[in-house]
Amino acid sequence: MSERMRIKTAIVTASANGLGRATAIQLASEGVHVALVDMDEAGLAETARLIRDAGGAVDSWIADCTAESEIISTVAAATKMLGPIEALVNNVGGSAGKDAAPLHEQSAEVIMKVINQCLIATILWSRAVLPQLREAGYGKIVSIASDAAFAGDTNMSEYSAAKAGVVGFTRAMAREQSTFGINVNAIAPGPIRTAALDRLAPDVLARAEAGIPLGHLGQPSDIAKAVAFMASTDADFITGQTLIVGGGRWMH
Ligand SMILES: NC(=O)c1ccc[n+]([C@@H]2O[C@H](COP(=O)([O-])OP(=O)(O)OC[C@H]3O[C@@H](n4cnc5c(N)ncnc54)[C@H](O)[C@@H]3O)[C@@H](O)[C@H]2O)c1
Repeated sequence: MSERMRIKTAIVTASANGLGRATAIQLASEGVHVALVDMDEAGLAETARLIRDAGGAVDSWIADCTAESEIISTVAAATKMLGPIEALVNNVGGSAGKDAAPLHEQSAEVIMKVINQCLIATILWSRAVLPQLREAGYGKIVSIASDAAFAGDTNMSEYSAAKAGVVGFTRAMAREQSTFGINVNAIAPGPIRTAALDRLAPDVLARAEAGIPLGHLGQPSDIAKAVAFMASTDADFITGQTLIVGGGRWMH
């Protein structure tokens, strides 16, 4: 266990690839027993292998991270296997990708899907773990927002709205749970090199990259390190905050 880490267990949603995988690897490297959850069976197995090969502790569940019944059953199963869950990383989410469009051309189906996986899933996962965190009197919830919540990216209105929702939810939860030793924070990534970026239209990606003052896309480990900081005792006096990790694309 790294000196700064008090949590012993964590659930990381959508952890078969990308930012979720990097975060799970980072937490496991600091001694946290990690519960992986994703729909991608092969990706889950690869994340678990990477963690085990490095000497970490990991278990994984195949589940739709947006389905309430699967959220509840996965939290129960993970608790049985790992013991009390002490941290949750709400990572599941995603933009419309190749279906991105100006709002007047966007389908209701895509709008609902994006808001469901970015915002509603974050709320439902948090609700499912909160009783355990409150009982323990210590715990961490870290949700993955996006700098789109602040920048308001073109053709991504439902995504920007959903991620801004994560920012507001984080603040409300932080206040609501503050007397139970639970820190609730968010990380807002800028453009990070994952498969999600490959699904963006080339002009959207080019615009995003050109707007980064530090001059390059981020790596998944940039986000993983920020999440681990928020999950650690180093951040015990931080709550309700959204830390933007985006090479300066949005400054506030
Ligand atoms: N990559 C970026 O530039 C960037 C920027 C800002 C925010 N984000 C956010 O970071 C998070 C992770 O994005 P990423 O770039 O790592 O994406 P990714 O495409 O690399 O990985 C997404 C993972 O989510 C899983 N997944 C998707 N829907 C699921 C569901 N319903 N149930 C279970 N698993 C599901 C996929 O199987 C995959 O393993 C998302 O919330 C995204 O909005 C990413």
